[in-house]
Amino acid sequence: MKKKIALIFGITGQDGAYLSKLLLKKKYIVHGVIRRSSSFNTSRIDNIYQDPLMKKRTLILHYGDMIDSLSVSSIINKILPDEIYNLAAQSHVAVSFEVPEYTGNVDGLGTLRILDVIKSLRNKKKIKFYQAGTSEMYGGTQKKAQNEKTNFEPQSPYAAAKLYAHWITKIYRDAYGVFASNGILFNHESPLRGETFVTKKIIKALTKIKLKKQKKLYLGNIYSKRDWGHAEDYVEAMWKILNNKFPDDFVIATNNKMTIKHFVNLVAKELNISIKWKGRGINEKAFDQKGNCIIEINKRYFRPLEVDNLRGNFNKAKKVLKWRPKKNIKTLIKEMIDYELEKYGY
Ligand code: NAP
Ligand code: GDD
Repeated sequence: MKKKIALIFGITGQDGAYLSKLLLKKKYIVHGVIRRSSSFNTSRIDNIYQDPLMKKRTLILHYGDMIDSLSVSSIINKILPDEIYNLAAQSHVAVSFEVPEYTGNVDGLGTLRILDVIKSLRNKKKIKFYQAGTSEMYGGTQKKAQNEKTNFEPQSPYAAAKLYAHWITKIYRDAYGVFASNGILFNHESPLRGETFVTKKIIKALTKIKLKKQKKLYLGNIYSKRDWGHAEDYVEAMWKILNNKFPDDFVIATNNKMTIKHFVNLVAKELNISIKWKGRGINEKAFDQKGNCIIEINKRYFRPLEVDNLRGNFNKAKKVLKWRPKKNIKTLIKEMIDYELEKYGY
C-alpha cells in the first residue's frame, strides 16, 4: 500500500515532536517545516530525525515561515501531502500581549495562507487540514465546562488570532469543500513542554529546589483553573480528527480542572517537599519544612486579562472518534519530574 504523506507546520514544538513520532509509527512519510534560527531549534526532534536502526533520515525538513506565503505555498506544492497539521504558532498567551501584530500574523493569517493553497490545489489533490485550536478561545466564559457549542470570548491577542484561524478553517470547509477540521485542545503538557509555561516552570523549579540548586520560584496568578492533559494523548486525537469520515470540530480535554496552586501542591507532594502557604494576594508565599520561603508571587507574571476557568467536555470526541485521555495528572507530573531528575543523573 502507498504510504501516506503528512506535512507538519510547527514540527519543532512540543506537539510536533509527539505527532511526528506517532505518524512515523503509523508508517507515514513525515515532512516538517522549521524556521531558520541563530541557534539549533530541533532538540525535540533530533532523536527521531536520524533513526539509528534504519540508518536513514526519517523526517524530511524544509525551511519556511508562517508569515512567508511563498514558502508556505512552495512547500505544499512540492510535497502534495495527504494531510497537513498546522501546529505552528506564537503559542504563549502572555507574550501575545507584547507582540500582538506578529501573533495575529502567524497564528491567524498563517492558517489562511495554508488553507488557500489547499483550496487552489483541490482539483489536483484533496489535502486534509488540521488546525490547532485552543480552549483559550473560550476565555471569559461563565460556562462551568466548555464544549463545541459554547460561545467564544477570547481574552488575549493570542486567543483572538486563534479564533480567526478557527473560523477561517470552518469557512474554507463550508464554502469550498476543503476537508478542514478544528481541534479545540485544552492545555496539554509533557516533559517536552516549553520552559515558560506554568507546569514546566513549576516542575523544573521545584525539582531544582529539592536538589538545592535553586532557592525560589516566582509565580503570577495561582488561582486560575486549567484542564491539563498529556500531549501524547492529544496528538493521537489530532490524527483521529483528520481520519474521521467527515471534517468537523472537536473539543479535546480531560474534563478535570484544578488551580495552579493545587498543581504546585501535587508536584511538591511527588517530590516529598512539604510546603505551607501563608499570606494573601500578592503577599502569598509558600514555605518548606525548615521555614525557607520557596515560592513568592510576582506581579510581573500577571496578564492584562486572565482566563479564570477552563474545563473541557470531550463527549463528542469520545462518541465520534472513540478518543479519551489515557494518562492522568499524576502520571503526567511523575513523568515530567523524572525527566528533570534525569538531567541531574537521578
Ligand atoms: P510550541 O511548543 O510553542 O510549538 C510551536 C511551534 O510553532 C514550534 O515548532 C515553533 O517553531 C513554530 N512556529 C512559531 N512561529 C512560527 C512561524 N512564524 N513560522 C513557522 N513556525 C513557527 O507549541 P505546542 O505546545 O507544541 O502547541 C502546538 C499548537 O497547538 C500551537 O499552535 C498552539 O498554539 C496550539 N495549542 C497548544 C496547546 C497546549 O496546551 N500545548 C493547547 C491548545 C492549542 P520554533 O521551535 O522555531 O519556535
Ligand atoms: N506561564 C506562566 N508563568 N503562567 C503562570 C505563571 C507563570 O509564572 N504564574 C501563574 N500562571 C498562570 C497563567 O496566568 C495562566 O492562568 C495559567 O498559569 C496557565 O498559564 P500557561 O502555562 O502559560 O498556559 P496558558 O493556559 O496561558 O496557555 C497554554 O494553554 C492554551 C490552551 O488553553 C498554551 O499552551 C496555549 O498555547 C494554549 O492554547
